[in-house]
Amino acid sequence: MRAVEVTGYGEPSVLTLTEREPDPLPAGHVRVHVTAVGVNFIDMYQRSGAYPRPLPFVLGGEGAGRVIEIGSQVTGIEIGQRVAWQGVLSSYAEQVVAPAWQLIPVPDGVSDEQAAAVPVQGLAAHYLATASYRMQSGDHVVIHAGAGGVGLLLTQVAKLLGAKVYATVSTENKAKLSLAAGADEVIGYADFDEVVRRGTSGLGAAAVYDGVGRATFEKSLSVLAVRGTLVLFGQSSGPVPPSDLARLGQSGSLTVTRPTLRDFVATRAELLRRSSDLWTWLSDGRLKVHVGRTFRLADASLAHEELQARRTTGKVLLLP
Ligand SMILES: NC(=O)c1ccc[n+]([C@@H]2O[C@H](COP(=O)([O-])OP(=O)(O)OC[C@H]3O[C@@H](n4cnc5c(N)ncnc54)[C@H](OP(=O)(O)O)[C@@H]3O)[C@@H](O)[C@H]2O)c1
Repeated sequence: MRAVEVTGYGEPSVLTLTEREPDPLPAGHVRVHVTAVGVNFIDMYQRSGAYPRPLPFVLGGEGAGRVIEIGSQVTGIEIGQRVAWQGVLSSYAEQVVAPAWQLIPVPDGVSDEQAAAVPVQGLAAHYLATASYRMQSGDHVVIHAGAGGVGLLLTQVAKLLGAKVYATVSTENKAKLSLAAGADEVIGYADFDEVVRRGTSGLGAAAVYDGVGRATFEKSLSVLAVRGTLVLFGQSSGPVPPSDLARLGQSGSLTVTRPTLRDFVATRAELLRRSSDLWTWLSDGRLKVHVGRTFRLADASLAHEELQARRTTGKVLLLP
């Protein structure tokens, strides 16, 4: 089977399409024919060595496809069943071997491309809006990178929950996409703090969802209302430097949380509960997935170049 390997850490050009033997199928696992692979920021950190994995390795953790082989001690899954997943290593490939408990059944009516966009960014949007900070109707919330994969989905979930959304974006095209997803105010990064203060009569936002990190962190903290929550869920512009916790008290009893998806889908029950909401919203049209670009498996390096240069919108997929 074909797969995209990292043999040495570095720039996108280190990604190499190789031919390799399929992995053995341990007990409790299922082999899946992959039809769409999700490209995520964490893949870039693993490729560059920022989050090292033992070399060489096949990159990737997210995708959708069809079950082709079932290992021993697996129940409740059938050959041919359509599934999606996240957190399954070596997903940039024509086949993956996944722990059965991590596979999410995909309902009819949801395409493979839509399905591959849900496990990371959809589930993230779900837990960010309902668990990291529980959005209430009427809340004013800021969502950074509003036209990104998480951003477009989180904006739609926020609107479902009745929040007013201020979304930051870097280009006119991204502004259009963010507005179409339901953002109430779409703003540039330079003056988002002023717009949020004006829009909240100086009170500030109930929550700021910040996946950008270093470039936005200080202003994100500064626009929070008293007892507001900064949900720092990523660092696409770089890591946030160490900060004195005492300032949270001085600035209005603020909360900062740094959540990670795996802790919000740690059990099969929680994984299925969150995905079931997403499938329902997708099926009845309340949630739309925007697949911004698709690439061939052989062009994984190009996909990485585009993502790190901020030239993508919504979901980026590889189609094996
Ligand atoms: N904690 C979790 O559970 C979790 C789960 C999923 C993703 N994440 C994180 O959430 C963030 C967003 O993920 P995503 O997959 O949805 O990506 P994305 O938002 O589609 O892409 C990143 C966006 O960040 C913005 N950005 C601002 N400064 C940037 C910079 N210096 N370099 C690159 N991008 C920059 C760009 O949008 P503009 O051009 O509009 O600024 C860019 O398009 C990432 O940090 C990711 O690691 C966290």
